[in-house]
Amino acid sequence: MARIYIPVGSVTGTALAVAQAVSQQLETEGHQTRVDENAAVEQLQDWDVVLVCTSTTGRGDVPGNLLPFYQQLQQAEALTGKPFGVISLGDSSYDFTFCGAGERIEQQLLALQAVQLVPRVTIDATETATPDDDALFWLKEWSARLSG
Ligand SMILES: Cc1cc2nc3c(=O)[nH]c(=O)nc-3n(C[C@H](O)[C@H](O)[C@H](O)COP(=O)(O)O)c2cc1C
Repeated sequence: MARIYIPVGSVTGTALAVAQAVSQQLETEGHQTRVDENAAVEQLQDWDVVLVCTSTTGRGDVPGNLLPFYQQLQQAEALTGKPFGVISLGDSSYDFTFCGAGERIEQQLLALQAVQLVPRVTIDATETATPDDDALFWLKEWSARLSG
């Protein structure tokens, strides 16, 4: 069983609710989790796995509460081999910046040589009224990789 750190970026609470649903499911599977709305990169050393759950704000920007984490990642030492996943919320009417925050964080984690278990999921507010269910569907594959 894994210890999973879940940094959250959320403006109006949707991504936070998704993170809480995902956390609950992972705990049901026997993992230990921590949802952190004020995430810090120094926490990563205490956790086996990182699962970022973030919406996008502005024009492809990382929400303010996750910005310190994103900025710390840009200065961080390598995270070689650290397993990660990204759940990315957005709205496809923002054409060029759709789910941009999740993409930025994914790119930064890949640059630090962390290992993406499965491709990032994008959850489009124009397409779904049940973002939690969409995330939980994706989580099945992600958590299968975790155990395997
Ligand atoms: C002011 C504002 C700017 C946004 N900018 C983007 C954007 O650039 N790209 C995108 O994909 N979604 C954008 N969104 C959509 C949100 O990411 C989406 O509605 C998300 O589900 C909100 O989640 P939250 O409640 O956790 O913040 C924006 C929403 C608002 C209100």
